[in-house]
Amino acid sequence: GVGREDAEIMIIGEAPGANEDKQGEPFVGRGGKLLDDMLKMIGLDRSRLYITNSVKCRPPENRDPMNTEKDACHGYLARQLALMKPKIIVCLGRIAAQRMIRSDFSVTKEHGQFIEKNGILFMGPFPPAALLRGPQNKPNAFADFVALRDKIHEVCEHTYE
Ligand code: URA
Repeated sequence: GVGREDAEIMIIGEAPGANEDKQGEPFVGRGGKLLDDMLKMIGLDRSRLYITNSVKCRPPENRDPMNTEKDACHGYLARQLALMKPKIIVCLGRIAAQRMIRSDFSVTKEHGQFIEKNGILFMGPFPPAALLRGPQNKPNAFADFVALRDKIHEVCEHTYE
């Protein structure tokens, strides 16, 4: 993961891809650039939050992570959450959202909504990879990030300081 240790916002992706694996940093490459652009749009950058992945190793050929792999990494992620105690968790992509929010979470149907679980607000906006595949979703993603900005102003203390 990268970012500040006392982050109020945590962004959780699926798993590292080839570039992420090489550089040891989440969301680098084209998807990462787009994520940085989306954050910039709402006045944020990586130094103001924490970004990580739910699966910590790269699945071969970029296949979906297997349940055994998700389970193997879950303790690590759970510990990150316990240490950081984020107020808002942004799940990027179906795999992360279904792992963190609900096993039948639908990004298409529920992308702009905040769902509270154990005192943490979760959201699952359109992830950068989906926007690269289907730019028609960019307005939706923009609206999701604006909703995120408003929610940060509502519930966070130091993210925008
Ligand atoms: N890059 C990451 O680090 N995670 C993803 O889920 C997608 C791209």
